[in-house]
Amino acid sequence: MKRRKWAHERAVVDGDPVADAVSSVLARLIKDSHVLAMAGFVQHGSVSTLQHTVSVAYMAAMLAHRSRKAVDIDSVITGALLHDYYLYDWHVKTKVGGRWHAFKHGRYALENAEHDCPHLLTRRSRDAITAHMFPLARFPRTREGRIVSVADKMVSTAEAAGLPWLADVADSIIEGSGATPCDIGREVTMLESAGFPER
Ligand SMILES: [Fe+2]
Ligand SMILES: [Fe+2]
Repeated sequence: MKRRKWAHERAVVDGDPVADAVSSVLARLIKDSHVLAMAGFVQHGSVSTLQHTVSVAYMAAMLAHRSRKAVDIDSVITGALLHDYYLYDWHVKTKVGGRWHAFKHGRYALENAEHDCPHLLTRRSRDAITAHMFPLARFPRTREGRIVSVADKMVSTAEAAGLPWLADVADSIIEGSGATPCDIGREVTMLESAGFPER
């Protein structure tokens, strides 16, 4: 059976400006953080945490783009790309994984982002990272934070339902950032020596 070509996939292939915006923020983060190391962790099913965060950034940027109110799209994308930057396997029951993960990982993601690239964070992107798990975390104080929280829930639901286009969109955006499979493999292997806060 011929697979249906999803509108979002087609848009990325054709040079969607929203996807381009996500690729360029991702390229900036790659230079100053270990964001690619998220490829070494599984988020849902066969989707890596890197693919998940890139999909959330794309969804959030689309929502921001369509908003009638003023939104800092750069903060939306940065916050979305780093919202799950906790860098451990949440499926394994450890001090940080297991049942407390859902409540605490927004804070861990922000700690890791502050460790790597505080100069790329704004009050709005910090809010998006910390509060994205609302109602398990506090309510987002900024419009940008609320957008990322909604986009995360939409993408997580779609991933859990196995919708096919999300991972393809994420892979196109990652490719558009200039990151190669070799860069990704290097970040995954070097993560141990990156010096993140111990938990
Ligand atoms: Fe999360
Ligand atoms: Fe997420």
